[in-house]
Amino acid sequence: MIQLVEVMKTYIMGEHEVHALRGVNMDINDGEFVAIIGTSGSGKSTLMNILGCLDLPTSGAYILDGMRVSELSEDELAIVRNQAIGFVFQNYNLLPRMPAVRQVELPLVYRGVKDREPLAIEALRAVGLGERLYHKPTEMSGGQQQRVAIARAIITAPSLILADEPTGNLDSRTSLEIIALFQALNRERNITVLYVTHEPEIAEHATRIITMRDGRVVSDIHNDHPRWAQDEIAQLDVDVDTPVLTGIAPKPSAVIIGEADAS
Ligand SMILES: Nc1ncnc2c1ncn2[C@@H]1O[C@H](COP(=O)(O)OP(=O)(O)OP(=O)(O)O)[C@@H](O)[C@H]1O
Ligand SMILES: [Mg+2]
Repeated sequence: MIQLVEVMKTYIMGEHEVHALRGVNMDINDGEFVAIIGTSGSGKSTLMNILGCLDLPTSGAYILDGMRVSELSEDELAIVRNQAIGFVFQNYNLLPRMPAVRQVELPLVYRGVKDREPLAIEALRAVGLGERLYHKPTEMSGGQQQRVAIARAIITAPSLILADEPTGNLDSRTSLEIIALFQALNRERNITVLYVTHEPEIAEHATRIITMRDGRVVSDIHNDHPRWAQDEIAQLDVDVDTPVLTGIAPKPSAVIIGEADAS
């Protein structure tokens, strides 16, 4: 589905050039679940922007589903972005005062679809937000906002999801919930998922881990034993429910009720 051949991206900054990508080669098949890691400034976001047809390489070729992306017109690029690719960002990119259903409908507005609300509701239910359909981002937690963004990404039934640090602003449990959602979308709908992360544990959920450094791919490994986020969440719940035997009996009134309320 995705093929990059010697892709370079150079930004001109006044007097000097920034070589953000220095010859990236990559083949990604349909249905893969890929994590991209690497230090800050190594070119991960630049790569995602190119893969998402938001930006073009300075040189080299990007072939997406057999199309040479650099040869597409602006209109054709817009169609690819709207129909084939779902985007998820670290900061959710939602409109703060628009109810969830309306946000999720937006890609369909651009497509001219008329009866949008039932489709938006279905997408929100698929991400576990059936009870928050008309909440605004300002009335939701970070994890819920990211779910809205994922619902918006999947409403066009894309074959590819690109997520640039989707768990970057979330705590560890909420991060697992988002990764569990991606794993389910990958398995059940066969959506190819590429996500950028700084956290090794989050990367270990992928079946393939690509490491970038200085604008190049420096390692590309298959992970035969990916973590399964749904199981890890279940384990967290067991740990919370199991009394810890420290030798000192916990004061019943204190801990437990507060924990239950918080969750
Ligand atoms: N629009 C731009 N104009 C000029 N330079 C840019 C631009 N975008 C990125 N760069 C530079 O390109 C290099 C790669 O940036 P990029 O954002 O791809 O890194 P990253 O791996 O995503 O980093 P981070 O982990 O901090 O998000 C950096 O040196 C950055 O300063
Ligand atoms: Mg980045």
